[in-house]
Amino acid sequence: MSALGKIVVLGAGNIGGSLAQRLAEMDVAREVVLVDIVDGLPQGKALDIQESGPILGFSTRVTGTTSLDALQGSDVVVETAGLARKPGMSRSDLLEKNAGIVKGHAEAVKLHAPNAVSIVVTNPVDVMTYYFRAVSGLPPARVFGESGTLDTARFRSFVAEALHVAPRDVTGFVLGTHGDTMVPLLSLTSVSGVPLTKLLPPDRLAAIVARTKQGGAEIVNLLKTGSAFYAPTASQAELVRAIAHDEHRLLPVAAHLSGEFGEKDVCVGVPVVLGRQGVERIIEVDLLPAERDAFRASVAAVRADLDILAKLPK
Ligand code: 2OP
Repeated sequence: MSALGKIVVLGAGNIGGSLAQRLAEMDVAREVVLVDIVDGLPQGKALDIQESGPILGFSTRVTGTTSLDALQGSDVVVETAGLARKPGMSRSDLLEKNAGIVKGHAEAVKLHAPNAVSIVVTNPVDVMTYYFRAVSGLPPARVFGESGTLDTARFRSFVAEALHVAPRDVTGFVLGTHGDTMVPLLSLTSVSGVPLTKLLPPDRLAAIVARTKQGGAEIVNLLKTGSAFYAPTASQAELVRAIAHDEHRLLPVAAHLSGEFGEKDVCVGVPVVLGRQGVERIIEVDLLPAERDAFRASVAAVRADLDILAKLPK
């Protein structure tokens, strides 16, 4: 029997389509439903994925629809809908357009799937996660944003490349916002327990940190017509797997803070323990003074976007 009944992926663009494929191949749910307003797009991508099942050996049924009624009875919802960046745009440039989309979807989740765990991916993700939770009124534990796992994967990948070591042996955290002020934590990064700061000189570390902060933009500039989706959907799938199998993984996600790290009433990337009910707890790791300052600046950037959100016409 599958670990989950139904997963609904809202938005059938590059992220939604690639995520539905990864989820089907993971075979963790009885059903994956792709939803999009463009008629034919979710149905076509879903059918294409479904037809790969006999070769790949998964049993998950994949369908597509334009109707948000599909949310009914879902265990996990992944909000991917919205515009993606083009070269020269920041994630915050998407705020106004994507807020309208997220609002409608959060209302639909409240109506049809109040017991689901919702993962928000739409950018600017920290702000959209806050908004989704506020509009849906669902418990903070059951609405969180994906970005820390992605930024951390980029960071780990660059470290592995620099050291010629297996990427999976690099562990670490990127906290704060999914934007230019994100905070890769060098103090908590290691290669199988060996501290990174003992393996690379400060100038090489600084270059890796800078590249991580621009990781999304580097891909946008290469693609020119949209943003990344392979690494983002790998990290989203990792989160869904943690929920499906109640793994209690310690991962960075954009979680609602209520005093942790000295911040409240904001969603931003922090380490959490993730299981079947969503965010089980937030882990308040000790930060070095410079990391703490950088984290505060990161939260301030999210609050600036929340102010813009608050001033948008309702
Ligand atoms: C990225 O960083 C899409 O925001 C996402 O690539």
